Amino acid sequence: MLAEAKTAYDAIKIADAAEAYRYAMKVSGASEEAQREASMLKLRAERRAGELLVSMPKAAGPREGKGARSEAATALTYAEQGIDKRVAARCQKIASIPEERFEEFLSVADEITTAGVVKIAKEIDRFVELSDKAERGKNIRIDIDFRLGDFRKVLADLPDDSVDLILTDPPYPRDFIDLWSGLSEFAARVLKPGAFCIAYSGQANLPEVIKRMGEHLVYYWTFCLYHQGSTQIVNGVNVMCRWKPILLYQKQPRKKIPNTMQDYLISEGVQEKDDHEWQQTESGVGKLIELFSNPGDIVLDTFAGSGTTLKCARDAGRKPIGCEIDKDTYNRAKLRISS
Ligand SMILES: C[S@@+](CC[C@H](N)C(=O)[O-])C[C@H]1O[C@@H](n2cnc3c(N)ncnc32)[C@H](O)[C@@H]1O
Repeated sequence: MLAEAKTAYDAIKIADAAEAYRYAMKVSGASEEAQREASMLKLRAERRAGELLVSMPKAAGPREGKGARSEAATALTYAEQGIDKRVAARCQKIASIPEERFEEFLSVADEITTAGVVKIAKEIDRFVELSDKAERGKNIRIDIDFRLGDFRKVLADLPDDSVDLILTDPPYPRDFIDLWSGLSEFAARVLKPGAFCIAYSGQANLPEVIKRMGEHLVYYWTFCLYHQGSTQIVNGVNVMCRWKPILLYQKQPRKKIPNTMQDYLISEGVQEKDDHEWQQTESGVGKLIELFSNPGDIVLDTFAGSGTTLKCARDAGRKPIGCEIDKDTYNRAKLRISS
């Protein structure tokens, strides 16, 4: 049936019919297998519509000369074909997925939905965008001390008692828990006496993180980074998470901060995830740099990711030093810092 669809409009009508059929089967208690077949037909029809739409203009093009439409605009537009532009965009997104990946989704996905397949298309777009940035960052030279590798190795030459502030954001999953002990030990060596190691943390492993950070440093306080904008339920605990703990640890001797400050920060606006899935907002990082360091100070980030701390520190007139273990992430950070 789908092979007979000659226009995107035909294919979309088949998709609509397949969806109506799936719904009728669901209501009448038909087998899961039969419903799945209908869902597959719907998605294949949407993909076919997307393929047929690729060469079609989105709207009437500008007129050329006196009255005649340009060549591109002589084809029928979406509206002229009776196709909603949001449906057209969705179908084209589905059509952009490589055939093999699309078929794999149909055969393994628990639920065969348009939303599910559009999500895959977006993930592919994101992967391509990040790979492109990493490639562009490869040969870029930047004027700050930014190293590729494990912080315990590539920062081993930093002198004792030489760093004014460590501001960092280690990976939060349980698998990385040992890094917190490594950070505590490293910070206790390179920080100047009485200087701070400030670390963003997740909530899930907080008791263990606190224990490990205290192995070589002194606990000072926990700040709250409040997230504006949308939020999500955290799997497994059924909590809508709106804030992140920021742990303040100090190298001995414990000293009181000279200026009184509030212990919460607001992460302004929408999430900034252009260069890293765990990227922090510049508003929060910038504020911490302002509060806990002075112009000319060395500000170190042992887990630089997309380079937020390094960029904010440089922009605030500090001397940033940092490292990142993942090569693509490192190259993307170089691109970001250079712009
Ligand atoms: C939470 S992310 C940091 C995100 C960063 N704050 C930003 O705004 O982009 C943690 C980063 O630490 C890196 N990393 C993990 N283990 C590391 C190690 N041993 N040495 C250096 N970097 C490491 C990861 O590759 C990841 O990019």
